Amino acid sequence: MAELDADWQWNVLHHLGESVGTASMVEAFATDASRARRMTLDAAGVTLDFSKQRLDDSALSALYSLAETQGFEAARRAMFAGDVVNQSEGRAAWHVALRRPADDPLYQPVHDERARIRDIADAVRSGDWQGYTGRAITDVVSIGIGGSDFGPRLVTEALAETRSSGPRAHFVANVDPADLNAALTGLDPATTLFVVISKTFTTAETLANAHAAKAWLLADGASESDVNRHFVAVSSNGEAVADFGIERMVGFWDWVGGRFSLWSSVGLPIALALGMETFDALLAGAHAMDNHFETADLGNNLPANLALISVWNRNILGLTSNVVVPYSQRLAHLPGFLQQLSMESNGKSVTVDGDPAAHATEPAIWGSVGTNAQHAYFQMLHQGDLLANVDFILPLATADSTDVERERQRLANCLAQAEALMCGRGPDETGSDDPAIAAARACPGNRPSNMLVLPRLDAYHLGALLAAYEHKVFVEGIVWGINSFDQWGVELGKTLAKQLVTDIADPANAAAHDGSTASLIQRAARAGG
Ligand code: F6P
Repeated sequence: MAELDADWQWNVLHHLGESVGTASMVEAFATDASRARRMTLDAAGVTLDFSKQRLDDSALSALYSLAETQGFEAARRAMFAGDVVNQSEGRAAWHVALRRPADDPLYQPVHDERARIRDIADAVRSGDWQGYTGRAITDVVSIGIGGSDFGPRLVTEALAETRSSGPRAHFVANVDPADLNAALTGLDPATTLFVVISKTFTTAETLANAHAAKAWLLADGASESDVNRHFVAVSSNGEAVADFGIERMVGFWDWVGGRFSLWSSVGLPIALALGMETFDALLAGAHAMDNHFETADLGNNLPANLALISVWNRNILGLTSNVVVPYSQRLAHLPGFLQQLSMESNGKSVTVDGDPAAHATEPAIWGSVGTNAQHAYFQMLHQGDLLANVDFILPLATADSTDVERERQRLANCLAQAEALMCGRGPDETGSDDPAIAAARACPGNRPSNMLVLPRLDAYHLGALLAAYEHKVFVEGIVWGINSFDQWGVELGKTLAKQLVTDIADPANAAAHDGSTASLIQRAARAGG
């Protein structure tokens, strides 16, 4: 029955797409003075203005009905209860438990582990934690990749301006030695602490970099027994950490997915560089968004609306790109973070039952900071034939907001791009009578965007924003009927890479591969691989 209902609702949506989805947004504003107000939602200090989307109340209510039919209520309840929602791995996805306040825990070990992070952060920041020559730690180098890198890197760099004391943070993910070499340049091994982050502690890139970092420390004169003064591991695999030779470990659980893990011990670099108060504020913002997401009905639910707008754009308007453009230099890592969060979660084409997905799923997520992006691909967004949605992320103030003139430019540029995408410019508004020139200058407009506004770029609002996107991804997965919490596609490449390391070292077995790969193995081997 639910399936029939869903089919019917998809038909309704496609039908609306032909009218509402092609209607002029400018005209919709002209005939509805309350559009901006009605299509704006606030939650945990974050504002979502989606009035520049090509939809109306009828489309929204059809989307809400579809989400209900697809089991939104039950799925949301299951996620908050810590039930198994990651079916293919038989696990919960209980990241909401990680940001609960200590006086209202869902799972006490989360708070015990948080206390250990606090102890480490306090010891390092106060200077009590000393390197092998007895000096305080000045630099923390975080080694991890994917979900064990994006989150702490994004937050630490986004809030770097609020850092008043404590060690400097550096992040290394790439197995290309250039990454670690660049991070270590100018650092003193005797005052450097490595935080090796890996849920599995089997990720080849992370282990290779950790071994190289250890060699760098030993080459400075430290002994094997000094290693523990310079290495902390964050993992859920205590055995592998012990095998590596690291004694100090903070842990987390198999129900914390890598891309949802920054709220766990994986956030240690944030606490080290910015202090535990900042990490606590981040968690508090995310928790406030969780409370909103858990209790708000669909019509008022900010993350759910973000998701259903995405479903409308992807499935009804046929958009294949979602462009993320933060108008804050400090959020330069946000598009990369959201790429993993969205595409590793929902880049799938089979349903939880193993059937081919009946509807298109994840669009490509890409983007970079405004205003720079305006001087790169915005030309295509305004006049190209690829219709894309843009998520503008606009902190109204940042810790750098001291130069009023440049701040106004930052804000104005963001608003201008959204306005230009929607309003466009007709040939008769171009100032040219020459039809060819007028056509070249005209912008079609009616191009959709969301505006996500933060009153200020601080830990609380950043936490709320990131949690909103996590829940958005979850709701998209519910509507598409896919498991947002596994990543089997990534595994195949990892397995093949392992074999290829051996085959490049000894190309005798190259012929076991396809012709192209075999020939590339030979080339790599000849080049000294
Ligand atoms: O990229 C694939 C992935 O499995 C991610 O899900 C994860 O965040 C990343 O690898 C790192 O894994 P680990 O934390 O186990 O090193």
